[in-house]
Amino acid sequence: MSVAKRDTENRKVTTHRLIEMKQKGEKISMLTAYDYSMAQIIDEAGMDVILVGDSASNVMAGNTTTLPITLDQMIYHAKSVMKAAKRALVICDMPFGSYQGDPRKAIESAIRIMKESHVDALKIEGGSEVRESIECILSAGIPVMGHLGLTPQSINKFGTYTVRAKEEAEAAKLVDDARMLEEIGCFGITLEKIPAALGAKVAQERSIPIIGIGAGGGVDGQVLVMQDMLGITSGFSPRFLRRYANLRDDITQAVQCYIEDIKRGDFPNEKEQY
Ligand code: KIV
Repeated sequence: MSVAKRDTENRKVTTHRLIEMKQKGEKISMLTAYDYSMAQIIDEAGMDVILVGDSASNVMAGNTTTLPITLDQMIYHAKSVMKAAKRALVICDMPFGSYQGDPRKAIESAIRIMKESHVDALKIEGGSEVRESIECILSAGIPVMGHLGLTPQSINKFGTYTVRAKEEAEAAKLVDDARMLEEIGCFGITLEKIPAALGAKVAQERSIPIIGIGAGGGVDGQVLVMQDMLGITSGFSPRFLRRYANLRDDITQAVQCYIEDIKRGDFPNEKEQY
């Protein structure tokens, strides 16, 4: 695979810079990370945004949904990522139960994440249902990215991870929610698993960056879950996922070689001991 040399300016990416990038038509790259080692590699590779996603619940903790992950666990992951990220803007997901239905709880949760992890911004799932919580967090000077379309924290309401907003009424609500999120002051919106035409419409209508995951090529940037794009996860291959490596096979091969070398008494060799 050829890798195009990109202009990796070393100055720290800010929410304002993302808006400038949208204005200049420069696409925004975003990828999840949950730990120090991977965040360091991703940051040094030139990623614009690192998302400490609540997908950590699935890929780090082995849960079937994002619902079980706690505020303490998200803070732990966010702190680890922040120690590594020098250039990328770091956004942390607010976990399920930390902001819904109670603006006071939302601001307390948000302030805990900001004080303890030092991330740059937060991401919150939902539109009009969580408007008050988002407004309260924004009023404390905390930058917020919205998240519309497929919102995995509502999986028990949807009942399925299928494409969202295919019907007119749901698409219209998404367009309204995106407008509202920009109006109240969100600096960006993630759109997950919606028709490409709807993603492009929202990106055209809004002046804040729209980052897609399964939202087509007409949005301002793309995000994927790191374990998916590196080919570490298996049994998950939605249409939107492009795998850039097959690390599951590479890691399995390396681990099997290591086991074999130990069993054969071939590791350590003469040069590998004191
Ligand atoms: O938690 C996560 O990884 C996310 C992405 C799917 C956007 O929210």
